[in-house]
Amino acid sequence: MLQEFNTRFSNLLLSLSDAIDIASPQIASHQMRTAFLSWKIASAAGLPEGQIEKIYLAALLHDIGALSLEDKIQLHAGFEVTDVDTHCVLGEALFDLSHLLKPAAGIVRYHHKPWEAWHESIDSPGVVESQIVYLADTIERSIVRDTYILHQTDELESKIASLSGSEIHPDVVGTFFQVSHQEDLWLDLVSPRLYSLLLHHGPFRGVKIDQDDILSMASTFRHIIDFKSRFTATHSTGVAESAAMLSRFFGFTESETTRMTIAGYFHDLGKLAVPNSILEKAGKLTKEEFEIIKQHTYYTYTVLSTIGGLSVIAEWAAFHHEKLDGSGYPFHVGADRIDVGARIMAVADIFTALCEDRPYRKGMGKRQIKDILVSQASKGLLDERIVRILLENLEEITTKVKSEQRVSRDIFEMKFQKVKNCD
Ligand SMILES: [Fe+2]
Ligand SMILES: [Fe+2]
Ligand SMILES: [Fe+2]
Repeated sequence: MLQEFNTRFSNLLLSLSDAIDIASPQIASHQMRTAFLSWKIASAAGLPEGQIEKIYLAALLHDIGALSLEDKIQLHAGFEVTDVDTHCVLGEALFDLSHLLKPAAGIVRYHHKPWEAWHESIDSPGVVESQIVYLADTIERSIVRDTYILHQTDELESKIASLSGSEIHPDVVGTFFQVSHQEDLWLDLVSPRLYSLLLHHGPFRGVKIDQDDILSMASTFRHIIDFKSRFTATHSTGVAESAAMLSRFFGFTESETTRMTIAGYFHDLGKLAVPNSILEKAGKLTKEEFEIIKQHTYYTYTVLSTIGGLSVIAEWAAFHHEKLDGSGYPFHVGADRIDVGARIMAVADIFTALCEDRPYRKGMGKRQIKDILVSQASKGLLDERIVRILLENLEEITTKVKSEQRVSRDIFEMKFQKVKNCD
């Protein structure tokens, strides 16, 4: 019997925010720092608690619409060279997919809208909220990361002062100046302990979430992971659905099956840290490129296992490239450490990947898929009981997986590809 979830909303949000920015030292903690500043400015403005939480939530994930690592680095470096609006539109669409994120979708949509482009008053809720994130984002991106923070605050303040009245409303700038003389604000902002500071003292600190909430967040995150590339646009959907069906056939309870679905949605979370140039490479990967691919399950594990209450899900999600004989990666655990859930995930992942097109090959037919799975089971790499369940129910599983993947494909093509193609 699995334990009840004992997960804090702030813990889940901070870890997912971190997962998006983990990929590169240039953007590490960018969203978390923006959220910290937004929280401080919104608090100094005396906004009500609910509004502060909404601003903080938007800021923590404000760039989720920048789907590739390359996009994120470009945006962080400066707007002049790039299209700013696309990631705002996609970010809003992703926020709209989860009931937990939806209230903050409008802030994400307008987090790059300068004050002079607004026609409403600064007192309108949507305006002040977006302007606070706009300001916090601008400050964070202006920080020179290899220079001591207190040696650059004067310059940061002058830069913000120069934007007052044009890009940022003077009242919002004024609120920032109420707190910007405090050294502790800047030292906290760049502290490696910022995660734990926000977890223990930041917004949502007392808020617990249940299994359905986590499912809803995981469901949104699978799209963020998958929509990075058209080749993987429905991959996590397929893995989650096949893993759920296999676990049901295996005899898991409904609650355990839901956890498999969550683990399936999150299994490739660490791929957020892999550049698209590698994910979409048409030829064979070099040894160096494959070493970069290997970090994805490591990150899936470190991110999920730091969220209280998700340790079993972390293993089910992150062990999908481990093999029963210990020859997998990156943990090299063997049969004694890989439980049934993780064994199911490994089969679900290979099965789904073989069905899908990749840049270097077409999706395979049933015969070929069957041969590969049987051969891996007979070599003691995959659990043969699970491969048998899959093959015995191949028609039913394939039909259901394809129908779930069609739904995700529709979201991808209607909302995401269309917007991307308008660039
Ligand atoms: Fe942005
Ligand atoms: Fe993977
Ligand atoms: Fe995968």
